[in-house]
Amino acid sequence: MTAIALRKIRKTYGSLAVIHDIDIDIESGEFLVLVGPSGCGKSTLLRMIAGLEEISGGMLDIGGKVVNALPPSERDIAMVFQDYALYPHMSVRENMAFGLKMRGTGEKVIDERVSKAADVLKIAPFLDRRPAQLSGGQRQRVAMGRAIVREPSAFLFDEPLSNLDAALRVEMRLEIAKLHNRMKATTVYVTHDQVEAMTLADRIVVLNAGRIEQIGKPLELYHRPASLFVARFIGSPTMNTLPAKVTGAAGSGTGLSVAGRPIVLPAAITAAASGVTLGIRPEDLVRCPPEDAWFTGDLAVVERLGSQTYGYVEIGESRMLTVEFPRDAEIRVGERIHVRGNPAGTHIFDDATGLRLN
Ligand SMILES: Nc1ncnc2c1ncn2[C@@H]1O[C@H](COP(=O)(O)OP(=O)(O)O)[C@@H](O)[C@H]1O
Ligand SMILES: [Mg+2]
Repeated sequence: MTAIALRKIRKTYGSLAVIHDIDIDIESGEFLVLVGPSGCGKSTLLRMIAGLEEISGGMLDIGGKVVNALPPSERDIAMVFQDYALYPHMSVRENMAFGLKMRGTGEKVIDERVSKAADVLKIAPFLDRRPAQLSGGQRQRVAMGRAIVREPSAFLFDEPLSNLDAALRVEMRLEIAKLHNRMKATTVYVTHDQVEAMTLADRIVVLNAGRIEQIGKPLELYHRPASLFVARFIGSPTMNTLPAKVTGAAGSGTGLSVAGRPIVLPAAITAAASGVTLGIRPEDLVRCPPEDAWFTGDLAVVERLGSQTYGYVEIGESRMLTVEFPRDAEIRVGERIHVRGNPAGTHIFDDATGLRLN
């Protein structure tokens, strides 16, 4: 069932358009992540759903009702902000209870909901403290608690973890995942961090300059990015991308010339564009004898992360190829490296449109 539907949603500031005709159907219980670089319009889109930003065009439907003209308080959703926006002079308990009190909810119900949320979020011991007496992670939990007690039909999060240090960010990410598994509430979550997006999302919406590049499950985006933008945005280390020429169809495959070498890929491409970009992830490159090599060069840097080893190979024209090696690979800086690609892990993009061709 669709919980929230966006139909041709637009946002303009004067003559400046920042959100262009966005269509998304958010399923009931789904965890949807809006991801994209800073300034692409994530917060603007989320704030329009929340009712904090006027919608310039299109239709927003929440729970089967058009809500374009409704104020935030009548949309039955709760938002958690990056800066938490807690009231400094109120205790944790008062912060969590405030919204319910304003709606005239009875004291008994408020007490029940606050203690239940406090238990779930493990902040029961801090209920009488002020926000200033809490750590960043605890404040984050209070901000989530304040949303939970309202029992809204959907939760909206705007970069809720970006003010936390790296370790706490991972911990809170797990907490949010656990919470969602338990509550199964419809959630729209904004982040610029593709790892957060990949780990939390049922589906990801990749935004670029106010437009949708692709909507899909995390691994769909990883394995079949619809555009060069998505290919480069999702995955760490970044996918290798190299200029290539289409030299012709070869049986059911495609002939390419990359870095001066002919490569035949098993996949057919949809159009015979002249200028294309070949994409290949570091784990889809493997060492091989010189005569089979797609790429050859000297190893410039080795990064040993323990569970993975990455090598950076200089393949000429000041191009660097990132290659994933077996984690205990005996490789040395300066060594000559020959690699070939896994044909199933190749991606071809049209330089004219940026769109996937294979
Ligand atoms: N009040 C405003 N007036 C004009 N432009 C704005 C305003 N608010 C945001 N923008 C512009 O809208 C774009 C999207 O901003 P935002 O939604 O905050 O991006 P994100 O959250 O993805 O970083 C940016 O280019 C920003 O400069
Ligand atoms: Mg933002």
